[in-house]
This record gives sequence, structure tokens and C-alpha cells, in this order.
Amino acid sequence: MSYVSIRVSTLRGEQKIDFNAYLKINGKMLLYLRRGDSFEGERLNRLKDKKLKKMFILDDEENKYREYLQKNIEMAYDEKSGKDIVARAEIVQGQQQSNAEEVFEDPNNIEAYSHAKEAASKYVQFLMGNSKAVGAIMNILNEDFSVAHHGVNVSGLSIALAQKLNMIDPKQNQLLALGALLHDIGLNESGIALNRPRSDFSREELLIYKQHPTLGTQKVREMKHFDNTVIKIIAQHEEHIDGSGFPTGARESELDPLSILVSSANALDRLLTFEKIPRHDAVKKLMIEQVGCHPLNQIQLLGEIVKGF
Ligand SMILES: [Fe+2]
Ligand SMILES: [Fe+2]
Repeated sequence: MSYVSIRVSTLRGEQKIDFNAYLKINGKMLLYLRRGDSFEGERLNRLKDKKLKKMFILDDEENKYREYLQKNIEMAYDEKSGKDIVARAEIVQGQQQSNAEEVFEDPNNIEAYSHAKEAASKYVQFLMGNSKAVGAIMNILNEDFSVAHHGVNVSGLSIALAQKLNMIDPKQNQLLALGALLHDIGLNESGIALNRPRSDFSREELLIYKQHPTLGTQKVREMKHFDNTVIKIIAQHEEHIDGSGFPTGARESELDPLSILVSSANALDRLLTFEKIPRHDAVKKLMIEQVGCHPLNQIQLLGEIVKGF
């Protein structure tokens, strides 16, 4: 029998599966979830706790898995599905995270990039069309400190911020959402334990860390399918408007406005996700410790967004 891998991040929600899902343990396939079960609650949490990214299905059931994904995502994006925003956000978050993981693993794959790009537009509509959506996305815990999950958060916060700033160009917002989703492509394999304050990093770790925007840019800049705006966001997302950021110390006038926005959203989610700082304290911390690094109105608007969670 031959198996194909599926991403755990795509397995969300209460919909029953009509395929068998296996775990690979010591080289052996173990039936974990049977046809007719769903991935609700405990089961999914146990998988997440194990930091398991992939499961397996029999290759002749791949179509059934694809249908499951399709049904799930259609329901999640359907305003009239009657499902609550929490259930919908779980599915949307899972799909976005999976899209980021696919591009991180193989930036050469044009199909993976196009799929992520197309889905970024739907994500924008979902966020802008539901006042509770960004909160529901941000309320999903990133327990394993996944860089892809962090990308989904930064993308959500960036779009919420764009909406507050009355940025309504759908094309621009699509690239903003995609760039924010993929911004840490150079950090994904850094090997550094990210779940602590940067002040705790050793000198060597800090050196490696500070290279991640450059590493990410090098990975993708030769690829014709990557949009320029996305490459710019990857390169500039750690820069600050006062020149205190990295890797180049560029200032506001030299930075793309979309990179500035992602840098603000990224600074907030870094504190929330990796340093586990409570929301209101995180915004305060930005306001006090990073004043001057980001536009003041963006920090204030992020504060308003966080209040709505
Ligand atoms: Fe980063
Ligand atoms: Fe980041």
C-alpha cells in the first residue's frame, strides 16, 4: 500500500472525514482517525501538542481528502453557512498556515505560490467583511511557536490595520496579506528557539537571527513567480522608520509603506506569540519601548484592534 502525506494544519473543524488518517510511528503506519470521525477538540490538540505537522492517507483516498478540504473552506468562507465565526476562523487559519508551510518548504513551486496568492485574497475578504474575524484568528493559540502560524497572525493584523487606514485596493491588500504571511520565510529553519525575548538571545543567536530577512530574500529573489512587493516585505519587515531596525537600518523614506505596516504588525505578534505577553501589555510595551520605530498611529490602531478581540 502506498501513502501520501497531508498537513495537520488543514484538518480543522467538526466535519466528518471520509478517509482514514494514519500516523507514522517508527516507520510503521498507525490508524489514528477512522472514516466517519472528525478532528474536533482533544484529538487535534493532542496532535498539535506533539508538534506533528504531517499525517498520512492511502493514496487512493487523496480525492476524498481534497473534497474534504474544499467543503471545509467553502463553508468557512460562506457568510450564510450559519456556522459561528470561531469555527470558520479555525478552518481559514489552518488553510493559511498550510499555504505558508507549502511555500516555505518549496519556494520554487509555482503552484504552491499561486495557491497561497489566490487564497490571500479570500483571507482579505474574510477579515474585512467580519468585524470579529481578526479576533477569532488571533484567539487560536500558536502553542508550538510555528513561524507559519505567526505569518497568518501578522497577515491578519496587517489587513485589520490596512482597513483602519482605509486602504481598499484589493490588489494591494492581496500582496500585503501574502507578503505578511510569508515574511519570515528566512527564519523558518533558523534553529533558534524563538519563544523568548530577543534580549535573551546569545551573541551568536542574535547574529543568525539578524540575517533572516536577507536569507529569506536570497531564497526567493531569483524566482520570477514571486511578486516584487512580497520580496520587499520579506526584505524589510524588521526595519524601523527611525533607522533602528535590521538588516540595513533603512529609514522611513527608503521603505515600502507596506513593509512599514507589516513591521508594526510583526512587532506586536512577536510579543504576543513568542514572548507570551498579554495583549494590553504588549501594546503598551510597543508604545513605550518601540516608540519611534513604528508610526505612532499604527501602534494606536493596533491597540484598538486588540481591544476588539
Ligand atoms: Fe522576522
Ligand atoms: Fe515575524
